[in-house]
Amino acid sequence: MKTLIKNGRIVTAVDDYQADILIEDECVSVIGKTLTMEADHSIDAAGKLVIPGGIDPHTHMELPFGGTESSDDFHTGTVAAAHGGTTTIIDFAVQYKGQSLLEGIDNWHQKAEGKTVIDYGFHLITTELEDKQIEELYTAMDEGVTSFKMFMAYPGVFLVDDATIFRAMSAAGQRGGLICMHAENGIVINEIIKRALESGHTAPKYHALTRPTIAEAEGVHRAIAIAEMAEAPVYIVHLSCADALNQVRQARDRGIPAFAETCPQYLFLSIDNYDEPGFDGAKYVMTPPLREKSNQAELWKGLKMDDLQVISTDHCPFCMKEQKELGKDDFTKIPNGAPGVEHRVPLIYNGGVVENRISLNRFVELTSTAAAKMFGLFPKKGTIAVGSDADIVIFDPNKEQTLGLKTSHMNVDYNAYEGKKIKGVVETTLSRGKVVVDNGDFKGKAGDGQFLKRGTCVAI
Ligand code: URP
Ligand code: ZN
Ligand code: ZN
Repeated sequence: MKTLIKNGRIVTAVDDYQADILIEDECVSVIGKTLTMEADHSIDAAGKLVIPGGIDPHTHMELPFGGTESSDDFHTGTVAAAHGGTTTIIDFAVQYKGQSLLEGIDNWHQKAEGKTVIDYGFHLITTELEDKQIEELYTAMDEGVTSFKMFMAYPGVFLVDDATIFRAMSAAGQRGGLICMHAENGIVINEIIKRALESGHTAPKYHALTRPTIAEAEGVHRAIAIAEMAEAPVYIVHLSCADALNQVRQARDRGIPAFAETCPQYLFLSIDNYDEPGFDGAKYVMTPPLREKSNQAELWKGLKMDDLQVISTDHCPFCMKEQKELGKDDFTKIPNGAPGVEHRVPLIYNGGVVENRISLNRFVELTSTAAAKMFGLFPKKGTIAVGSDADIVIFDPNKEQTLGLKTSHMNVDYNAYEGKKIKGVVETTLSRGKVVVDNGDFKGKAGDGQFLKRGTCVAI
């Protein structure tokens, strides 16, 4: 099967030029000014951007959490991702306490197999790591799971102590593995929550008011300090505020291999969303919570200056009905997480490029290339080059759209960006050369997505 993409403007993290692309055997085989070879299928990309498929390295499909399960499975979630120009997700498998690391990974293989429509990899949420389990961590790495998420938050569920974090960082770091850190002081936060509940504060907004930015900054500082002692790199997930960013910046200025991602919700939504009428604030109950608006400009600056390297979504949807509603009388019972996998690429194009905060190349880097390098997928993924997988998005930079529940594909009963008007629309998404979305129509097939055995980080 040969596909020719004609007349497009190819934009990668470093290039910007007009050329044609020939795709053969799922990969880019020729790039040239004017290609004339025969193909089975030709796509005219005149007036469009031709960019590498988005990589979202932080999703939670079918995650059991807060007494329920995130509402997108690997089918619905990856269909939605493809509509939004994402061609690879890295989801978080979970090793529950008492389980081996490999059991956790096997469980996630069972959830994903036969369902995904785009390629996918796994990180592993690691909740126990004794010395005797370190060989297993290396086996996981040999099987392509080369990054591990650890939590300083959620005591009694996912939280691990500093000794476990140090052991994991040392062990993973020796083989090029990466620890992804949920950095918030969950122990202190739990004390603040107790006080709030004792005072009768049960509304969704108290989720944010009980998780101060300093609790996140302290977690980031501690994670980086432990990584420094372990002589290992660290990657801070879902960084939400200037206080936490300052910790990363200071470490990077000292030459420490500290990396971080932020997410669209921290760039476009704010603590004011918790004031929406009735129980609607629950839509935004996620961890870390939405912050004061003033943090947004700082995060954009961090993205521009490379103190933040990646934009992921932390896609973890729960319906308002029957799921978020679990916390109607107590914000601590609202399942934590929000939908977003479908909107990341266009939102960042609009907020970043159209609104003049970052360059077009940086947009591609933040939504695709940097994650490929960070998580061992580059140059198979994350760029458009001869030999790379033909994960390609044809993006109309001028067309406008209004985001909302009616037009989105995520399996959830609300949209966090309802009514937001943006410029930039995904026209066609190709996954390894196959068109999976064509002008809003889904053309893919469950099971076409392949598991990605990832290598190690090449971003350092
Ligand atoms: O609220 C969130 N972020 N839910 C998903 C779990 C996590 O901490 O990433
Ligand atoms: Zn987290
Ligand atoms: Zn997450």
